Amino acid sequence: MRAAFTSVGLGKLKTDLYVLPVFKDLAPDATSLGQLAAFGISGRLSGADFRGNAGERLLLFPAGKSTIARVMLLGLGESKDFTAQVWRETVGELGIWLQGRELADCVLELPALETGPEAGQLAMGAGKSLGLGAFTFDHHRSGGTQKGKGLSSCSLRAGGKRQPALEAAFLQALVLAEGANTARTLASEPGNLATPVWLGQQARRIAKAAGSSVSVTVFDEAKLKSLGCGGILGVGQGSRQPSTMSVFHYTCGNPKAPTVAFVGKGVTFDTGGISIKPALNMEDMKYDMCGAAAVFGLFSVIHQLKPKVNVVGVVPSAENMPDGNALRPGDIIRLFNGKTVEVLNTDAEGRLLLADAIAWVEKTHSPDAIVDFATLTGAMLICLGREMSGVFGNDPGLLDAVVEAGTCSGDLCWPLPLTEPYCRMVKSKVADIRNHTNSREGGSITAAAFLKEALMENTPWVHVDIAGTATRNVNREGCVPGATGVGVHLAFELLKHFE
Ligand code: BES
Ligand code: MN
Ligand code: ZN
Repeated sequence: MRAAFTSVGLGKLKTDLYVLPVFKDLAPDATSLGQLAAFGISGRLSGADFRGNAGERLLLFPAGKSTIARVMLLGLGESKDFTAQVWRETVGELGIWLQGRELADCVLELPALETGPEAGQLAMGAGKSLGLGAFTFDHHRSGGTQKGKGLSSCSLRAGGKRQPALEAAFLQALVLAEGANTARTLASEPGNLATPVWLGQQARRIAKAAGSSVSVTVFDEAKLKSLGCGGILGVGQGSRQPSTMSVFHYTCGNPKAPTVAFVGKGVTFDTGGISIKPALNMEDMKYDMCGAAAVFGLFSVIHQLKPKVNVVGVVPSAENMPDGNALRPGDIIRLFNGKTVEVLNTDAEGRLLLADAIAWVEKTHSPDAIVDFATLTGAMLICLGREMSGVFGNDPGLLDAVVEAGTCSGDLCWPLPLTEPYCRMVKSKVADIRNHTNSREGGSITAAAFLKEALMENTPWVHVDIAGTATRNVNREGCVPGATGVGVHLAFELLKHFE
């Protein structure tokens, strides 16, 4: 989808659809009708037609030979309740609605308010929601989509004035949405297709398309073995699919700039292994690589965003299967960092493979910060639901920066504790640490406590548990049910903190 900013006057604007946001209290009558007269729409609109409630839409057809084919009134609710999130949700529903049409383009007017969210935030929200709304996943259906073609271009307009800052925010948000959509596509592919080797191939494809600032290396099982990555290999040993680890590098051109490492959990399917999961909803475990997808999504657009930081992306990937060769409960394995692990539950596999990747990137790159994204614990759905990701870490400054990047991006995060008593719970009697406490209590925290054991140099690190936020079951902010692409935008906002 092409994107642009337009400052063309309403009389000259040529579009399939002009979208005019309307606040409930500032309309429906006075404001909107005044503007509607310009389109030859006569003033008989009343509360019976349109009230301006948040999310309400009304399509109108200008009379005569207007170059605007359609006008849509888009309700935003009461102006005093208006937030960036209301805007993202409202424009998101519009974006999803547009996806099913035959409209070629649309022009969205930015709401003008004296108080409330900044215009830059709204421009960003518009780009994000329209971009996410354009996502489809139907290439496995014979004959393709049954829906319309969707938009080929969308524009933002702000009172007909040129506004370079708003234009930049809008265009950047569309790039970020494209990155998130790449993450959503990868995450939506089923386990039979999206294997660890396939993820490695996707990593190469993404790096090649990105050009010279991005490179990738894909480690195979032989390489992982020589490195001593017993966590990744242990998780994958019950699968016919060989494990891999993809490593992206983005260079900003300045070798002295800070280095930030992102690690993404890439379990391409999680049956639970020998500690097998129940059948109900097990199909959703194809999404157990949404952390990996976030890293891939970021690297697919990072060359367009050009942050002034060096970035490493690490995706350890394996399939967790029950098999004669699979890990058994009670097995003891050795991680990359040399620590031994008592594997008490083979379904607590994410932490095993992440620990290798975190320790490896810490040792080989000495990054200034490590942030991992992982669909790590179902317990996240119990404590924060699908609204926020839980964040854990060893460095208050980095935690604050991640929470702030979350708020700014819309990938909301809430900090949870990682204090000594929790850390004690992952110690083992027969090995250095254990991957399960034999209790569900504080499950998300004890998982984070295990990951903390990966660090050898106490590098600032934050773990983002996206088990609740990586997928949704209802429309939200431009996302249809399925993968959300969470993490892509957050990661980019966090990079700004290091610039
Ligand atoms: N991939 C799952 C976590 C998950 C569950 C993500 C539901 C998204 C939705 C993870 O590997 C897992 O199985 N975790 C276990 C940990 C337990 C065995 C300590 C869990 O959450 O039950
Ligand atoms: Mn599991
Ligand atoms: Zn898992």
